[in-house]
Amino acid sequence: MAVPVSTLLVILLIPLIWLSAQLVQGRLTKEALATAFGSSSSTSNLDQGTKWAVLVAGSRGYGNYRHQADVCHAYQILKRGGLNDENIIVFMYDDIASNEENPKKGIIINSPKGEDVYKGVPKDYTGDNLTTNNLLAAILGNKTAVTGGSGKVVNSGPDDHIFIYYSDHGSPGVLTMPGYDDDLYAKDFINTLKTKHESGTYKSMVIYVEACEAGSIFEGLLPKEWNIYVTTASNPSESSWATYCPGFDPPPPPEYNTCLGDLYSVAWMEDSDAHNLESETLEQQYQVVKNRTAAAKERGSHAVEYGNMALSKDPLSLYMGANPSKIDQSMYQSPETLSTVEQHDADILHLREKVRRAPEGSNARAQAQKELDEALSHRKHIDLTIQGIGEALLGAQGYEELKVVRSPGQTIVDDWDCFKALVGSYKRYCGALSTYGKKHLRVFANMCNAGVQAHQLEEATSQVCGNKLKK
Ligand SMILES: *[C@@H]1O[C@H](CO)[C@@H](O)[C@H](O)[C@H]1NC(C)=O
Ligand SMILES: *[C@@H]1O[C@H](CO)[C@@H](O)[C@H](O)[C@H]1NC(C)=O
Ligand SMILES: *[C@@H]1O[C@H](CO)[C@@H](O)[C@H](O)[C@H]1NC(C)=O
Repeated sequence: MAVPVSTLLVILLIPLIWLSAQLVQGRLTKEALATAFGSSSSTSNLDQGTKWAVLVAGSRGYGNYRHQADVCHAYQILKRGGLNDENIIVFMYDDIASNEENPKKGIIINSPKGEDVYKGVPKDYTGDNLTTNNLLAAILGNKTAVTGGSGKVVNSGPDDHIFIYYSDHGSPGVLTMPGYDDDLYAKDFINTLKTKHESGTYKSMVIYVEACEAGSIFEGLLPKEWNIYVTTASNPSESSWATYCPGFDPPPPPEYNTCLGDLYSVAWMEDSDAHNLESETLEQQYQVVKNRTAAAKERGSHAVEYGNMALSKDPLSLYMGANPSKIDQSMYQSPETLSTVEQHDADILHLREKVRRAPEGSNARAQAQKELDEALSHRKHIDLTIQGIGEALLGAQGYEELKVVRSPGQTIVDDWDCFKALVGSYKRYCGALSTYGKKHLRVFANMCNAGVQAHQLEEATSQVCGNKLKK
């Protein structure tokens, strides 16, 4: 088998010429080497993709201090990890740092002994610019679809990695956003991920979600082919939990009347602060977070994984960057001692604290008591309204069945348009559901699953809430 020397030379030269072209373009990656010489090794050490992050605090108000504190803390981790501000897109209402109730103006902390996490956080989408529309447009990288804000979007390419972290209240099938009646439905979020996948503009994506019923956003909805790995604070049918709350262990510094963090969130972030992100995998972090989130026994939740489990072997650094200067761990309490408060009750806890701390007989106390009474009676009203409607439609037994959780792997509702239509017709007669009220959304989902039509609900709601249309 005599091969002419000139042929051999050509065979050797072609990959070399191609490689030098890659070098000139600054693209000599392991993938390029593998392409040139046919090797198939795929460790991520030489990964050249850009890291992008989208951080979302979906709430507003001082009683929800903790969600924005979580998101600011996440920013500090990514910043320390080497991500650039142009690649970190922050959605937060931004009404905490300068809030009149904040004892340390201009500062936000995420743990009792924690340092300021507010410093340097980009204000991309704050106030009224924090909308579901802007969030989805930013994820898609569609700048023309954005209204207001910095206009920063995930302008990613096929080699890039995307990390999305959301912290707020959730409810069955829905993540809350701060605007009136501006919820993020699971189906719309999932469709956005689908479009992003089809546009071929990322290599892999990781999503962390702190919210009640967070599992319901992904259960039965996220194909592993999209190369997205998700962990959630809670399964589809349970609360997630606030921590570092007044009166609980460990409490925030005495001057704070609100919770500083959320259990799942501080679990992943304090873990990221404490470890070398290049040698820890997503799966290892998930195990730590799962333990810690459940640690409080009945006062905790079940963290769940969704999507492509193969990605869970990736090092955290692929999404969060490396972290050479680890944070002093003495800043944090040991996990065993964390006590927690249910997301929905954290708001009430804040109002109770406000009352307790105001001087006896003062205007401030009367005002705070009024706020508390209104919040409590609002809750009662919502509970009774939903029950009334359910019973009007399907009877007492039927109403009980509307609360049933579907089996694992099933989406919360089959017909999402029906789901939205029912929530809409409730709103027309009874007003938009508050953050608390949304905990009843499973009832609406199950109405659709049971074949209830919008006009039937209209009838029942107009009966229960009065025949007047709300605006
Ligand atoms: C971006 O959003 C605009 C406005 O919603 C829309 O018309 C356009 O088709 C979108 N572009 C892409 C590439 O999806
Ligand atoms: C919303 O975005 C616009 C345009 O960037 C900006 O002028 C405005 O101040 C923003 N509003 C808030 C509340 O941040
Ligand atoms: C989680 O808890 C289990 C049971 O207590 C323990 O065996 C395991 O080592 C823990 N894992 C991590 C990563 O903390």
